[in-house]
Amino acid sequence: MLSTQFTVYFLTVLGSVVALGPAAVNLRTAGNYAILAKTGVSTVPPSVITGSVAVSPISANGLTGFSLTLDSTGQFSTSTQVVGKLFAASYSTPTPSTLTVAIADMGTAFTDATGRVNPNFTNLGSGAIGSLILTPGLYKWASAVGVGSDVTILGGATDTWIFQVSGGLSVAAGKRVILAGGALASNIVWVVSGAVSVAAGAHLEGVVLGKTSITLITGATANSRLLSQTAVALQKATVTN
Ligand SMILES: *[C@@H]1O[C@H](CO)[C@@H](O)[C@H](O)[C@H]1NC(C)=O
Repeated sequence: MLSTQFTVYFLTVLGSVVALGPAAVNLRTAGNYAILAKTGVSTVPPSVITGSVAVSPISANGLTGFSLTLDSTGQFSTSTQVVGKLFAASYSTPTPSTLTVAIADMGTAFTDATGRVNPNFTNLGSGAIGSLILTPGLYKWASAVGVGSDVTILGGATDTWIFQVSGGLSVAAGKRVILAGGALASNIVWVVSGAVSVAAGAHLEGVVLGKTSITLITGATANSRLLSQTAVALQKATVTN
């Protein structure tokens, strides 16, 4: 089964000179942030976030657990847990208007990604995708999706994936989303209408466009952007974009 998938993939690649998979989802300015959320970003320290963090329309009260240091400009703050800046709608101009645009761009990206039609794969594995090999394409599930054992995303550096998930997305403790063949996290989009949860010690790859919450439990890691229309909760987690 697995070797058949590999064979089909490589034959497809050999016969193709163009990138495989759906047109890229344009994140616009939402792509400037490692974590962007409307109602809050919390951390149970120590988390390690590489990239900027932002909340809007909630104020800086929505950034919890970061022990923020407000910059003298008032436009952003810093935290020992963030290699980058933290922004909130309550900070000084131009931060509020910049964030309003970023939040709108996040919504536009969600609408784009969730609206793509003619999936290449529908309800694959009935949502249980552990141990599968996911070649480039548009995937749609009318259910939740669970990674109960390691799953591999296989493709080249210009190939793309969109995973449309109507329910939640969960990665079980210690399980991993693995990239192979040169696949890049920035070319992978998980557009999830339910809650996203990455359990203890688990690992996720790809941009997450979440309609609701995104939670990374103790020791979870993500090579991702976490873009939530509600809140992002981190517990001693590592997020790198
Ligand atoms: C996915 O489906 C689209 C639309 O039917 C098709 O054009 C494309 O070749 C398929 N992509 C792959 C990688 O199979």
